Amino acid sequence: MRVFVSRAIPKDALDIIQGVQGVELDVWDDVTPPTREALAARITDADGLLCLLTDRIDGPLLDGAPRLKVVSQMAVGYDNIDVPACKQRGIAVGNTPGVLTETTADLAFGLLLATARRLSEAENDLRSGEWKTWSPMQWTGVDVHDSTIGIVGMGRIGYEVARRAHGFEQEIIYSGRSRNPQVESAFGAEFVDLDTLLQRSDFVSIHTPLTPETRHSFGLEQFRKMKRSSILINTSRGPVVNQVELVEALRQGLIAGAGLDVFEIEPLPLDDPLLSLPNVVLLPHIGSASIRTRTRMAVLAARNLVAGLEGKPLPNPVG
Ligand code: GLV
Repeated sequence: MRVFVSRAIPKDALDIIQGVQGVELDVWDDVTPPTREALAARITDADGLLCLLTDRIDGPLLDGAPRLKVVSQMAVGYDNIDVPACKQRGIAVGNTPGVLTETTADLAFGLLLATARRLSEAENDLRSGEWKTWSPMQWTGVDVHDSTIGIVGMGRIGYEVARRAHGFEQEIIYSGRSRNPQVESAFGAEFVDLDTLLQRSDFVSIHTPLTPETRHSFGLEQFRKMKRSSILINTSRGPVVNQVELVEALRQGLIAGAGLDVFEIEPLPLDDPLLSLPNVVLLPHIGSASIRTRTRMAVLAARNLVAGLEGKPLPNPVG
């Protein structure tokens, strides 16, 4: 049985795969992802694929991999995988929810704090010698405590962001497909429609998956409804936000700032207009990037993969 792993992942996970009798492991040992052609070439006779969100897995690619039994993604989001195309070909699909929830919520809240209090800008200024004296109004931002946070999408990560917001004495409102009685009783969160959330929030934090319905669900129309003093935080997927319109909104002052961990094109091109704006904090998609969590994700992805190879139900199936 042949397995292709599309990037170097923690040894704990590779050991799990290697523990399967008769498995032949092929790991893409480069910091950059395989090109589509390289990926196609490496899975032509593979039985299992452990992939990352940087790999596009679709019907034409799968047609060149007739032996494939399982596609196991080391991430909770799987918008890079055409799940129906996998199902049509009898290929099981797995992802890694649960293990990254708190770590991603920590990052989302950290990004919210950093954007509100202008941490990146202040540190950059210190490093470049701009810190001349203690100054009454230099580097002043906005308070996080006693503000209102609007959480869009009350899934696992949204819930953990609410817990952190509650600790910071924020008023919590949320919108999404369904109500979550637990977040209401635990943290006093209030379920509202999206327009109300946009109008009332000082911080809007997005926690929806990328689907055809959520793609570009944030654009000028939504930014116009937000307070001019408000801050947008996105740690979900870049294309949920129309990035060109976000730049426009930030330039026009329709909203005050944005903290982004995800982008429409990743890595963010160095000539992207976002990089010329002072009122944004930009991170390289590191929501789940703690050593422990990335190791847990890799281990869970390996377990999904092994189950798929053995024709057993995946611990975390998708679809
Ligand atoms: C990371 O973005 C993930 O979906 O796990």
